Amino acid sequence: MSYPASHNHDTVDVTLASYGSELYWKTIEIRRKVLRLPLGLDFTDADLRDDPANHHFLATVHNVAVGALVLVPETQGCGKIRQVAVLDDYRGAGIGKALMEAAHKQALQLGMYYVHLHARITAIEFYLRLGYQRRGEMFDEIGILHQDMFLELKPQR
Ligand SMILES: CC(C)(COP(=O)(O)OP(=O)(O)OC[C@H]1O[C@@H](n2cnc3c(N)ncnc32)[C@H](O)[C@@H]1OP(=O)(O)O)[C@@H](O)C(=O)NCCC(=O)NCCS
Repeated sequence: MSYPASHNHDTVDVTLASYGSELYWKTIEIRRKVLRLPLGLDFTDADLRDDPANHHFLATVHNVAVGALVLVPETQGCGKIRQVAVLDDYRGAGIGKALMEAAHKQALQLGMYYVHLHARITAIEFYLRLGYQRRGEMFDEIGILHQDMFLELKPQR
């Protein structure tokens, strides 16, 4: 499935990558490169244990993999967005927004009306611009301050 994105970078495509596929492994490389290696960490088995049950999104520009995101189904009607990552050289071009919009669209198709996420302190503004609201106090996760944020999804007309 491919979602042509509507934003200021008209060559971005966001694709749903089935678990275990070549595209899935591209999402893993991006997640590792952006979210783990800069912290001197790598994925643990626990990090990837639930991947088979999740929905994996890959953003490409001219067929080059540049961004990734994971959508996790939770209780009925709710989902969690995890591991939003865009390669350094491609940031600020609407790719993160395109990934989030594709995930929101897929979440709605799956019957979710509510999504939440743990935002790194440096990314809170990015999510605020997408309509997310803060929930509760900030907390530590992998040594970084995070904020739980949520969004009620509304079907596009
Ligand atoms: C956060 C991240 C995913 C954003 O991706 P991106 O492709 O650069 O974001 P976009 O270009 O789609 O930005 C969309 C809007 O948010 C703004 N924005 C993006 N990142 C921002 C940030 N860190 N702080 C403030 N504003 C930000 C953009 O300026 C843009 O604003 P506009 O719509 O008014 O033009 C990316 O910076 C990233 O991968 N960061 C490192 C990993 C990370 O922190 N991931 C989030 C973990 S919770």
